[in-house]
Amino acid sequence: MTNEDYSFQTRLLHNSHKIDPATGAVSVPIQHASTYHQADIDQFGKYDYSRSLNPTREALEDVIAELEGGAKGFAFASGMAAISTAFLLLSAGDHVVITEDVYGGTFRMVTEVLTRLGIEHTFVDMTNLEEVRQAVRPNTKAFYVETPSNPLLKVTDIRAVSELAKATGALTFVDNTFLTPALQRPLELGADIVLHSATKFLAGHSDVVAGLAVVKDEALAARLGFLQNSFGAILGVQDAWLVLRGLKTLHVRLLQSQQSAVKIAHFLDAHPLVRNVYYPGLGHHPQHALQKLEAQGPGAVLSFELEDEEALRAFVSHVKIPVFAVSLGAVESILSYPAKMSHAAMPPEDRRKRGISDSLLRLSVGLENPDDLIADFEQAFSYTKAGTTVK
Ligand SMILES: Cc1ncc(COP(=O)(O)O)c(C=O)c1O
Repeated sequence: MTNEDYSFQTRLLHNSHKIDPATGAVSVPIQHASTYHQADIDQFGKYDYSRSLNPTREALEDVIAELEGGAKGFAFASGMAAISTAFLLLSAGDHVVITEDVYGGTFRMVTEVLTRLGIEHTFVDMTNLEEVRQAVRPNTKAFYVETPSNPLLKVTDIRAVSELAKATGALTFVDNTFLTPALQRPLELGADIVLHSATKFLAGHSDVVAGLAVVKDEALAARLGFLQNSFGAILGVQDAWLVLRGLKTLHVRLLQSQQSAVKIAHFLDAHPLVRNVYYPGLGHHPQHALQKLEAQGPGAVLSFELEDEEALRAFVSHVKIPVFAVSLGAVESILSYPAKMSHAAMPPEDRRKRGISDSLLRLSVGLENPDDLIADFEQAFSYTKAGTTVK
C-alpha cells in the first residue's frame, strides 16, 4: 500500500512529509536559513535562496499538492497573494469571466488592479451556465470560480465551467477556501488551478495568514513557479509550519463543524425572526443536488438574513459565543458582517445587486457544542424586535 491508497484523513498524517529523513522527526523542521552554502561553482545544490525554494515551505507545498491531487503546490503570504499571483498568468488584453458572488478582496483585485493592467473582466452569475457562455469573448483566458461562494453560498458546476473553459482555450481557477480538499477536489472535476486562503480551515486556528495554490499540470506549474519567484509573495517558514500543523486535524475539525452547521442551519431556517438562510446543506438551497454531486459535504459556513439592520445590530450586540470578526474556518465560531467586513471593498450598489444586504450575517461554525450556540442565538434573538418576517 502506498500513500495514494490511503483515505484522505489518513493522508493528512501519512504523506511524503510524515518523517524528516535527516532525523526521523515527526514534525517538519523549521528551516530559517535565507541562503545556502554552495559547494561547487558550477553546480548549485537543490536549495540556493529561500525565496526560490525553502525546505519547510516546500513540505507544505508538497502536502497540499498531494491532498488536492495536483502536480505542484505553492505557498504564499496570504490567500490574496496566491490569487493575485495566479492572475499574473494573464496579460494585457486578456479577459476573465468571474463569478459575481466573489470574496471582496478578489473583487477589488479584479476591478481596481487587473483593470489598470489592461486585463478585462465580466462578472456573471456562475450558477447560470447560459450566462457564463454568453460572457465568453475571443480574448477570454480564464474562468474564475468560487464555490460555495462568499457570502451567499452559491454553488457552481465546476465540471461544466471547466469543460467550457477547455473548449474556449482558457484556464479554470477555483477558490476552494470554503470546502478544502477534505470535501471538494476541483482538479478532479477539470479545474486547472485551485486557490486557498489557508488562513481559514486549512490552518484552522485564527493564528496565521497564508495562501496556497495547486496546479494540475507540470507546464502550468512551471509558469506559476516562475511567477511565485519573480513576484516573491512567499509564505514565511513559521507560518508554513503552522499551516502544516493545522492540516493534520483538518478532517476531524471540518466534519465536526459541518455537523454542527447542519443543525444550526435547520434551527435558523425554522426561526421566525430569520428571513433567509443560505446553506447548500438545506434541501431548499437552489444547488443542493449539485453540491451533493460535486462535493462530499456542504461545509461549515452559512449566511442568514435578519429582518433589517436594526434587528441585526440587536442580535450582534447580544450574541455571546461566536467572535464577531473578519475571517472564517477556525476552531471558534466566527460571526461576520459581510457588508462591513469581507465585502466592504465592494461598492454598496454592487453589493445590493448581488443580494448582499445590510441585514446579512455570515457564520463560520467552530467546534463548540452546537446546542450552546443555538441557546446563545435564541437569547440574542429575544432582543431583536418581534417582527413580521415572512419566509
Ligand atoms: C473565499 C476567500 N478567498 C480568498 C480570501 C483571501 O484570503 P486572505 O485573507 O488569506 O488573503 C478570503 C478571505 O476571507 C476568502 O474568504
